[in-house]
Amino acid sequence: MRAVAAVSQATNINASTFVYSTSHGNITYALSAMTTGDVYMHLRAPAVYQWVGVGTGSEMDGSVMFILYEGADKNSVTLSPRLSDGHSEPSFSNDIDCALQNGTAYKNSIVQMSNTRYYSVGVHCKNITALGKGDGKLEFTNAKQPFLYAWGPTDESISSASKSASIKRHEAYGNFWMDMTAATSPDLEDIAMPTGAALLSTKNAGADGQAESDGDKVGPAHAAIMLAAYVIIFPLGAILLRYLESVKAHYIVQTIGLLATVIGVGVGIYLSMMYNHSKDISSGHQVFGLVLLALLFAQWAIGFYHHLRFRKYGRTTIFGKVHLYAGPALVVGGIINGFTGFNFSSEPHNNVYYGAAVAVVLVIVLALLGWKKWSNKRAKRDRTLSDEWLYESYAMNEASNHQ
Ligand code: HEM
Ligand code: HEM
Repeated sequence: MRAVAAVSQATNINASTFVYSTSHGNITYALSAMTTGDVYMHLRAPAVYQWVGVGTGSEMDGSVMFILYEGADKNSVTLSPRLSDGHSEPSFSNDIDCALQNGTAYKNSIVQMSNTRYYSVGVHCKNITALGKGDGKLEFTNAKQPFLYAWGPTDESISSASKSASIKRHEAYGNFWMDMTAATSPDLEDIAMPTGAALLSTKNAGADGQAESDGDKVGPAHAAIMLAAYVIIFPLGAILLRYLESVKAHYIVQTIGLLATVIGVGVGIYLSMMYNHSKDISSGHQVFGLVLLALLFAQWAIGFYHHLRFRKYGRTTIFGKVHLYAGPALVVGGIINGFTGFNFSSEPHNNVYYGAAVAVVLVIVLALLGWKKWSNKRAKRDRTLSDEWLYESYAMNEASNHQ
């Protein structure tokens, strides 16, 4: 393949350039195509974003996307060409014959410009007009070919050479158009990609409005509901049982916890469909979470059944014992699944805050329960009550509370 000449705007070049200014610097996308199907592109964008992508078409569904993120070493860039079939993470596809093009002015690395790090690549694609669906098909005769762009959150960088690395949902996205007729020519000699000052302004292209702010609110919602259930609601249910000595309060609070968990898992399943690494629901985090949910239902039913039996026969049952030991085990299981959740979403740094919050709650809960147990023992000694009474009161069976 012959190298593509890089010339400045002064020359009459067959290229379209789109520049969009973000709060961290410009996203610049330039394109020049040959009627034979070869497409040359340049994409430059602030590397503070976990990823930046440009795609064909006006919507995700049917788009052919060119996504950049940090490679395995700090200064390299991974080009990940992907196909999208809707509002979920696009998937890397070998069918997209695109590769970084060596020998251009674009460096194919992370470059430093006025104290900002930018991804900067030159890309050569072959036969991409057959790909995509609807207006996601690239048409060289289209004077208003729709395109889209998006950028990821300013989270930790992806740092992966894999073209199918997980990317998070965009922080923002938007649309633009390019005049393909002005960027397409039959001769390789006419293919000339812009450089320098020519990359500072839009040419033969235009923005369709401003970028729309977005973000993954589903992940945080899932985390908030699940953690509220396991770290706050269920332990509160245990404390109320001991302090109010009321099975009713315990039953109501734990039922609310169970309902919250059902909603949280529902949100988790919806969230699973958004990302490639989670959509077949096979990770430890998801499977263990579902098993815990099934066990929680069992725990609820066992507690309820035990209570009915106790009211009828006035003595403790094996179900009561199982319920007593399984409760804390399930709570600990759910809390552990919170840690695996943050690892699963590639946000292990959150485990530091989560771990601290869990430690504080555990200390409070254990102190409260321990104190109650100790004061019950003392009361027993003082009042010389029978062992039977003590066991029953501790095993949530105190006769006076069975309304
Ligand atoms: C993990 C990856 C991604 C997820 C989960 C995702 C999810 C979504 C969702 C849910 C919407 C609808 C938002 C709304 O209507 O409020 C949307 C819209 C959009 N996304 Fe993505 N997206 C991802 C990656 C990308 C990429 C890589 C691009 C472009 C390079 C992109 C470009 C767009 C655009 C332009 C829209 C608006 C047009 C449309 O509704 O399709 N997305 N995305
Ligand atoms: C005890 C039960 C569970 C707890 C405590 C829990 C908690 C969490 C937490 C804290 C996160 C991190 C969220 C973030 O960083 O934004 C997470 C992520 C996630 N959870 Fe769960 N979860 C549980 C069960 C489930 C279940 C049953 C499913 C689905 C079947 C599920 C699906 C997911 C998915 C897909 C992610 C990661 C999404 C991403 O890649 O960003 N979780 N979970």
